[in-house]
Amino acid sequence: MAASSVPLMKLELPSKSVQELLKTAEKQVPERYIYQLSEEKSSADHSDIKYMDSPIIDLSLLSSASSSHQLQNELRKLQTAISSWGCFQLINHGLSSSLLNQIREVGREFFDLPLEVKQKHCRTLDWFEGYGGDTVSENQSYNWNDRLHLRVHPLERRNFKLWPEYLPNFRETLEEYTMKVRRVLEMILQAIARSLNLDEDIFLKECGGKEGINMFTRFNYYPPCSSRGHVLGLKPHSDGTAITILLQDKQVEGLQVLKDDQWFKVPIVSDSLFINIGDQLEIMSNGILRSVVHKVVIDKEKERTSVAMQCSPHFDKEIGPLSELIDNERPQMYKKIKDYLSVYFQYYPRGERAITKVKL
Ligand code: OGA
Ligand code: NI
Repeated sequence: MAASSVPLMKLELPSKSVQELLKTAEKQVPERYIYQLSEEKSSADHSDIKYMDSPIIDLSLLSSASSSHQLQNELRKLQTAISSWGCFQLINHGLSSSLLNQIREVGREFFDLPLEVKQKHCRTLDWFEGYGGDTVSENQSYNWNDRLHLRVHPLERRNFKLWPEYLPNFRETLEEYTMKVRRVLEMILQAIARSLNLDEDIFLKECGGKEGINMFTRFNYYPPCSSRGHVLGLKPHSDGTAITILLQDKQVEGLQVLKDDQWFKVPIVSDSLFINIGDQLEIMSNGILRSVVHKVVIDKEKERTSVAMQCSPHFDKEIGPLSELIDNERPQMYKKIKDYLSVYFQYYPRGERAITKVKL
């Protein structure tokens, strides 16, 4: 798909981080952050929103060590979860509580730094890595979110200028976290393939192999807001990834997912990782798996953090529906596409879903 087929738009970045805004602003939320509730009845009252009946998948049961009965059972559960909700909570994933706490902690330490220091890591308009907010088009509201976005894999593509290396444990912790999450990513992609009766390495190969796969870490910081009904931490979106592995805040909820036109709160399951299918796995699976639409609401009093590991195919790899998943009953539903993320970022700033543009 050629970039030129997309109408041009002017991209804008918030001039201040939300954190900084809160230091200087009066009580009123600036107009530009007020979310227009065009597609939702009201986000002002979240109390009547139900919790999702969160599918819980046990990674230890998906390993070859478990009995074949347990394994088949867990694979079935997984397949149901990802084709209905498009997400699940992963437990027994092998990452220790202490590592989960450490990665949350180094993220928090970064956001606690003085503004002048954080500004050294600022993103630019044309590339999303770095510190700042998300770009939006002229007529769109900003997210109530500051984030630090870093490429962590492949190793040679790390841009250490953007890493706060003077924070004592930052690099070491992020490297260890990446290594462990990578293992989880591989196991999950293999399990998903097996749950669809495919060769277990098929998705890994489609992503450019273990060495080629792209991983970006997004540290999210959501300051509290007393007019929480008027702002959104992240507006409704699906991820442009193949898969996202999210570590939620330990205490403060905020993530919601959409299913059958209804929003559901995602509960906090202690020490779990929240896994969601992204657009690129939906495409590869020819629509059998669902890339879940989700958003983040803001707490009135408490700040919230999260750490998202976004895993995407290598930029040079063309992806498309797997031939094994195309037949007369399920004809090919999406075009083949290379560098889906660049298409994704042409639509995300307008609040539109890129995946609808590659549908046949
Ligand atoms: C994201 C995302 C959810 C959260 O970073 O894409 O959806 O809970 N994050 O922060
Ligand atoms: Ni997301």
